[in-house]
Amino acid sequence: MPFPATRLRRLRATPVLRDLVRETRLSPADMVLPLFVEAGPHAGRTPIAALPGIERLSISAAVEEAGEAAALGLPAVLLFGIPEHKDAEGTGAYDDEGIVQLATRAIKDAHPGLVVMTDVCLCEYTDHGHCGLLRVDGAVDNDPSAELIARTAVSHARAGADVVAPSDMMDGRIGAVRAALDEDGFADTPIVAYSAKFASAFYGPFREAAGSTPAFGDRRAYQMDPANGSEAVREALLDVQEGADVVMVKPALAYLDVIRRVKEATNLPVAAYNVSGEYAMIKAAAAAGALDERAAVLETLTSIRRAGADIVITYHAKDACQWL
Ligand code: PBG
Repeated sequence: MPFPATRLRRLRATPVLRDLVRETRLSPADMVLPLFVEAGPHAGRTPIAALPGIERLSISAAVEEAGEAAALGLPAVLLFGIPEHKDAEGTGAYDDEGIVQLATRAIKDAHPGLVVMTDVCLCEYTDHGHCGLLRVDGAVDNDPSAELIARTAVSHARAGADVVAPSDMMDGRIGAVRAALDEDGFADTPIVAYSAKFASAFYGPFREAAGSTPAFGDRRAYQMDPANGSEAVREALLDVQEGADVVMVKPALAYLDVIRRVKEATNLPVAAYNVSGEYAMIKAAAAAGALDERAAVLETLTSIRRAGADIVITYHAKDACQWL
């Protein structure tokens, strides 16, 4: 029945009514906080200019930060490592005494109930900054890279990682990671696959934070073309076949339609990565007095959930917990 019998404003009249009919909820239980853990002598915390409020952490600072995340009700952290040394093969990634491995052990010792997810990639560990091994012609060599990604995932699991998250975008790497984990006695370790990871301008601040900017070229020969939605669904379905337990879309905000399509196509839990550039935009606008940070963050995170994400990986996680 149309107006005047139907009046949608009736259910918007009071906060209690609005709350009663709210379709999408945001809770600390849906969010994951990324942490940058830095190897080497720097004790404590180093601010990251491009990511106001986010710091590179020593292992002990990361343990402290993980404790704060847990106390705020966050279920999980996602670890990124910044090694002391880089080389052509990214050996720091699959070193059992590497930075992510050491940090994982320390965090799990101190906070056994907190889920530790690890980003599995070579780009922070290679001196050329690409996500895999280079062939002589400079192209990233898919199959040997996927093998090293699998080795890295097993090394993280051995260190106590609860969940591994490959972010390299090599073909077949989810299958390779699953097989390697199963072989090494980690059949119960879930994989969060960065399935639809786009070659995005919004990773800029992350690359400054992690020191992982490619030394030459770009990532467009392995990360996805931002113009492609159907291909993103294909990527996700392939990862499901290869054994992914959760599929991810990254970035989130310019790809809300992709989140929805991947959710509908896979019916798996879907994660969305609210990336560094998305965080930096809100921080910059808020610092300039152009918008209300709290309202903008909560609206943004809610919209990612409304699009279909079950899990939101976000640098705003601690602030959002305090505001909810
Ligand atoms: C590593 C990786 C990147 C991000 C997560 N994992 C950078 C990239 O692919 O260049 C980006 C995260 C962010 O921007 O917050 N492969």
